[in-house]
Amino acid sequence: MKKSNPDNWSANDSSELYGIKHWGADYFSVSDQGLITVTTGNENNHTQLALLDIVSDMKERGMNMPVLVRFEDLLERQIGYLNNAFANAIKKSGYNNVYRGVFPIKVNQQCHVIEEIAEVGAKYNHGFEAGSKPELIIALAHLKPGESCIICNGYKDQEFIDLGLQACRMGYSCFFVVETLTELPIILERSRQLGIRPKIGVRVKLASMVGGHWNATSGDRSIFGLSIAQLIEMVDLLKAEDMLDCLELLHYHLGSQIPNIRDIRTGVLEACQVYMDLVREGAAMKYLDLGGGLAVDYDGSKSNYTHSKNYTLDEYCEDIIDVVMSTLDPQDIPHPTLVTESGRATVAYSSVLLFNVLDVANYDPTPMPDTISEDEHHLVHDLLEALQNAKGKNIQESYNDAVYYRDEVRELFKRGQVSLRSRSMAENIFLHVMQKIKKESEETDSTRASQEFEKLRDQLSDIYYGNFSLFQSLPDVWAIDQIFPISPIHRLNEKPDRDAIIADITCDCDGKIDRFSNMSSTRKTLPLHSLKDDEEYYIGVFLVGAYQETLGDLHNLFGDTNVVSVRINSDGSYEFADEIEGDSIADVLTYVEYQPQTLRERFRKNAEQAVRQGKISAGERQQMMKAFSESMLGYTYYEKD
Ligand SMILES: Cc1ncc(COP(=O)(O)O)c(C=O)c1O
Repeated sequence: MKKSNPDNWSANDSSELYGIKHWGADYFSVSDQGLITVTTGNENNHTQLALLDIVSDMKERGMNMPVLVRFEDLLERQIGYLNNAFANAIKKSGYNNVYRGVFPIKVNQQCHVIEEIAEVGAKYNHGFEAGSKPELIIALAHLKPGESCIICNGYKDQEFIDLGLQACRMGYSCFFVVETLTELPIILERSRQLGIRPKIGVRVKLASMVGGHWNATSGDRSIFGLSIAQLIEMVDLLKAEDMLDCLELLHYHLGSQIPNIRDIRTGVLEACQVYMDLVREGAAMKYLDLGGGLAVDYDGSKSNYTHSKNYTLDEYCEDIIDVVMSTLDPQDIPHPTLVTESGRATVAYSSVLLFNVLDVANYDPTPMPDTISEDEHHLVHDLLEALQNAKGKNIQESYNDAVYYRDEVRELFKRGQVSLRSRSMAENIFLHVMQKIKKESEETDSTRASQEFEKLRDQLSDIYYGNFSLFQSLPDVWAIDQIFPISPIHRLNEKPDRDAIIADITCDCDGKIDRFSNMSSTRKTLPLHSLKDDEEYYIGVFLVGAYQETLGDLHNLFGDTNVVSVRINSDGSYEFADEIEGDSIADVLTYVEYQPQTLRERFRKNAEQAVRQGKISAGERQQMMKAFSESMLGYTYYEKD
């Protein structure tokens, strides 16, 4: 790629810096113009769209930031990849059965996402996993009776079970996965009463443990599923009821985002042993459901780091099939239909959160005054000396001195012995010292720079205020330290000149992002560009299609963002297939039980009283009521005129 600017910085350098070439898969890349593009469409009809063009088109339609952009094509391609990868591995190995994927609705329950998965998944018989009654209702309404599986996990009451049994009568492949022994008698009783043979599955707790964030989901202390002892109890109960032929499916779920392929192999191996013994016990086993866990390479490092994965999709499929065949074949046990409940890997790529930067706080000192009075506090002069000495081999000493003098100034200020003005001057000189040391240490051999100097970059970094709520749009960043790839979506052929953390617009000190991916490790700041007066600066958070929309909440009453679904037409053009307006202020107020009408009436009374007290005129009251009513209809996020 050509180098196109005075810094000799290219779009390719940005692609490396932000890791886009590593985590972007085949979907995201950087154009020569320095714009992040998304590549959509199929093999014969590729189209590259710049995210910035989508932003301008949205602006023309009056849609404000922040916005969640969903790419329908990426969802379609992910479903295709998953099903084709299993189909290829099955063909290559001679596996004697099929793959039937299910999408766990909990991972993204949004109607448009589910509709898209149902539509594109139909040709693969891709089904749904439902963990509750509402999710079962969604699954039944979006699938046709037939081979696509509906896997009912979670606690099931009579209503849930009745609905599932009726669905079986209609010809749906609807499985009740027994999670606790208490639900089995209800399943058996209701199926007897309704005269419907149920399709039963069982979730087992495997001893195999996985690495990564979700390792508590696996092992003896996992909260879901039956222990091996309980499994035997269940088999005996079904035998006694003459219903062991209803037990067809074995399920386990070791946790989400399993980074290491070895853990996946170990889990399958243990599950196969359980499966074979269930066959020997007389159960009519036909399905092996490996749950979720297929990871997403968020940092692009292709490693077994928590936010990555050390395997490809093809390896995942081939390894599973290899373990199943090598375990079952010597025992002449027929190959089961393979089911996975991949959520994260299916939807993560398809959504991008875009926001604009509203403001920057920096720790740059103001210019030094030409002279400092002889009468100024001696600590100010001491700091000045530290500044003059801060070069070459003296930087460690200057650093120690400056910190000492700055702390002394603060102490004396508390005791009233340093004025506000002197403290201000001292703090500013201190920043000059630190900036000088940072620059010096960056220019000298970094291996010799002390740890304190390395920390200076973080301590002196800017704060970029983004127009979004972390709690609404990226809850996992706050809750489980999830790392998502983050990058400006334009100006990528300019060298970024600032280091920054990102703060959201909630007034919560946790509303910040200060961990960023850096190829199998993390860094505390993100390189960004200085803002320009006449241009918005846009940042994208990528791979956010899984869990974020579902788990987001109304912290500070920031509501759902605007959403656009982008679809590519056969001629390479694109359209906004769906636009969902984000919550208005009135919407979020009603979520927490306020009635906009009542609020307006209360405010009207206050305004009327102010008129009576002569504080405002009747005309001003009218203007205030108008502003109040209009605010109710506005977006909850920062709106620029
Ligand atoms: C039972 C079950 N199946 C599937 C999933 C989805 O997992 P993943 O998103 O890792 O594919 C989950 C989520 O943790 C789950 O609890």
